[in-house]
Amino acid sequence: MFHRNLKDFPKDFLWGASTSAYQVEGAYNEDGKGLSVQDTKDVIPGTPDFNVSSDHYHHYKEDVALFAEMGFKTYRFSIAWTRIISNGVGEVNKKGIEFYNNLINELLLYGIEPLVTMYHFDLPDALQQKGGWSNRETVDAFVNYAKVLFENFGDRVKYWLTINEQNMMILHGAAIGTVSEGAKNIQKELYKQNHNMMLAQARTMKLCHEICPNCKIGPAPNITSIYPASSKPEDILAANNQSSIRNWLYLDMAVHGRYNPIAWSYMVEKGIEPTIEEGEMDILKGANPDFIAFNYYCTGTAGESKIDDTELSTQGGDQQISVGDIGVYKGVSNPNLQKTEFGWEIDPVGFRNTLREVYERYALPIIITENGLGAYDKVEENDTINDDYRIEYLRKHIEQARLAITDGVDLRGYCPWSAIDLISTHQGFKKRYGFIYVNRDEFDLKDLRRIRKKSFFWYKNVIKTNGKEL
Ligand code: BG6
Repeated sequence: MFHRNLKDFPKDFLWGASTSAYQVEGAYNEDGKGLSVQDTKDVIPGTPDFNVSSDHYHHYKEDVALFAEMGFKTYRFSIAWTRIISNGVGEVNKKGIEFYNNLINELLLYGIEPLVTMYHFDLPDALQQKGGWSNRETVDAFVNYAKVLFENFGDRVKYWLTINEQNMMILHGAAIGTVSEGAKNIQKELYKQNHNMMLAQARTMKLCHEICPNCKIGPAPNITSIYPASSKPEDILAANNQSSIRNWLYLDMAVHGRYNPIAWSYMVEKGIEPTIEEGEMDILKGANPDFIAFNYYCTGTAGESKIDDTELSTQGGDQQISVGDIGVYKGVSNPNLQKTEFGWEIDPVGFRNTLREVYERYALPIIITENGLGAYDKVEENDTINDDYRIEYLRKHIEQARLAITDGVDLRGYCPWSAIDLISTHQGFKKRYGFIYVNRDEFDLKDLRRIRKKSFFWYKNVIKTNGKEL
């Protein structure tokens, strides 16, 4: 749709950026922090462990001052469950509470609204040892952890996100380190875990509304439009299958408390549907999120996969690269799109499509909690980093966000990934996303100095002009 006049970004639009605890904090075993699955997983060869990351734990004041210099209205970060309750259940760690109190207070000092993810891929390892999300006790443990967060921070944190990219933990857990690589026939287990996470999320949202009536809470999956590989009806069905399994299964449940019918019949066909206990559907229906947050990097494209499609391997892929599912869909690359240096397609128009699709389906306010370009950055003379490619990527996505707002989408915030360089889920430190460069590489920690990239100054002006000057 062509618009002669574009709507402005809303006056109180939440411009900011994102990080997650294990990817940025470091201090993995300091001040009573327990180990998470990210600390105990087998690190991918050639990539670093998460012990130091960007050392934000010790640099948070300096980092927040830089965020304030960019003019952030919000900062989306996650709390490490293992810093608050080291084994996932039991005693609350005062030092952990103190760290996040300090971080939150520092943000508020600059007028930056904290947007907090409760759980970003870093389940306490002690819970994982007892079955992780397959064990229903983890649901209670999560709700108890959430209560501790609301009681300690709910007076200052108004915006909460439950679980980051639950859909990716189910579909690509091996890539992001939440499922052991090579585990076989675990799909049934994964959909049981999915069901339990849904229950944890629903109970947490309800609790949030009870304990902190002034807070707002929402889910944070990775959502993207799925295009059919061609106008062939079979390809359109395949794209629809993928979208139901990848997107709507998660949002239909979070918003309406019901299983998406196509995703459910997919699970039944495969014999992997979860057992639903009495009363659980009522719990799921009682969630009522205040908004939808989602992460967007690029769209997906799907073609038909026949049931005798023996060529299709279902192993591999990651958050943005889908291999497919025999008899359901086949992930194909889109010849109309360019790719990043790390092989993810770039689709700003797809961002507008996705925003429209989500808003049309759910009619809830939307906050974008991730969007960005992973690239190899180079420090040039006089500590300059000329990341024009990142500016280009973000500019095109923000343009499309404004078009989506003009289309009628109620978009309230935009937080690219990432505020500062951090460790990628599976491609190390070399895959950088930040506005702020952290001077370290894969294995040499150097001096961890912070350097403003060109995109830092660009984004500062974007925020200052409320998205008018891109
Ligand atoms: C999202 C995650 O999937 O994508 C982040 O929420 C992640 O944790 C980001 O870092 C980018 O992915 P990657 O694999 O490049 O780090």
